[in-house]
Amino acid sequence: LQTLPPMELAEKYFNIFPEERDPLWQNPCHDKRHKDIWSKEKTCDRLPKFLVIGPQKTGTTALYTFLSLHPAITANYPSPVTFEEIQFFSGPSYHNGIDWYMDFFPFPSNVSTDFMFEKSANYFDIEVTPKRAAALLPRAKILALLINPVDRAYSCNNMAAHQDPAAINHTFHQVVTAPPSSPADLLTLQNRCLVPGHYATHLERWLRHYPPRQLYIVDGALLRANPALEMEGIQRFLGVTPVFNYTQALLLDENKGFWCQRVEGGRPKCLGKSKGRKYPLVAPETRAFLMEYYHEHNQELLRLLNRLGQALPTWLREELQSTS
Ligand code: A3P
Repeated sequence: LQTLPPMELAEKYFNIFPEERDPLWQNPCHDKRHKDIWSKEKTCDRLPKFLVIGPQKTGTTALYTFLSLHPAITANYPSPVTFEEIQFFSGPSYHNGIDWYMDFFPFPSNVSTDFMFEKSANYFDIEVTPKRAAALLPRAKILALLINPVDRAYSCNNMAAHQDPAAINHTFHQVVTAPPSSPADLLTLQNRCLVPGHYATHLERWLRHYPPRQLYIVDGALLRANPALEMEGIQRFLGVTPVFNYTQALLLDENKGFWCQRVEGGRPKCLGKSKGRKYPLVAPETRAFLMEYYHEHNQELLRLLNRLGQALPTWLREELQSTS
């Protein structure tokens, strides 16, 4: 039997198996051979039971906050680097390995009844994410939060208007209608605001890695208008007990126009200023352009949800009625 020093051995190995240069982390406890060499001080219990995958600007922070109020649900510790989200499966942090990921979760007090989760809103539309997530968390449940993609695009552009010159120097209409010959920064913004709204395309990619029974579509319009009702549906899907009654825990803040957490003294504690902002309605011609742009994508979503036997979100029903 011949061997080499570690670096040379690794070099040789990856020359023979170049596709393995990019790691794909699996749960060490799902394979006896891995478990046997996994340090006795380590556990496989510090992993989430479900993921909120986004997409961005659909109300993911509200959902994260509401879920965290549940006595049996525990969110990840916030990351100081990436806007509180871990963004493990979608970005360079993946190469930090699973110990790094597990450090974002506490040791559960009871593995079977504690529900740990994390929310990273860019998981939804980043290509590599579902494959990586399914390798480490094959039994995780997946929550995707969908709102009308026109409103999502507008919210995305409004957020960018705080610091992105392409959004500052162009109207929303110019951003979404920019032709392919436009400057790169404008096209980057256009992509960022439009492409995550191709909902069916992204969901199909998740469904190549997760069985349909593990996927739940959260109706973002309902979560915004009647969060207690939508949170009940989510809890039933997750199988978390006890079923927490959110009508007591939430309160509609008339000034902000959003549901907020009810804190001591019956006062509302709302999300920060950057969530739930007030801005003018989308101009009618821009809405018409985007409704046309998303028409086929929404039709595809309709076919996908019918195939899965999942209820149609309220906004999708309304949108399809108005464009049919
Ligand atoms: P706007 O700030 O553009 O109105 P995310 O957290 O995924 O970035 O989504 C932010 C969006 O969540 C907000 O977009 C807002 O419309 C929506 N939202 C839904 N419910 C909310 C709530 N209870 N409080 C604040 N924002 C909420």
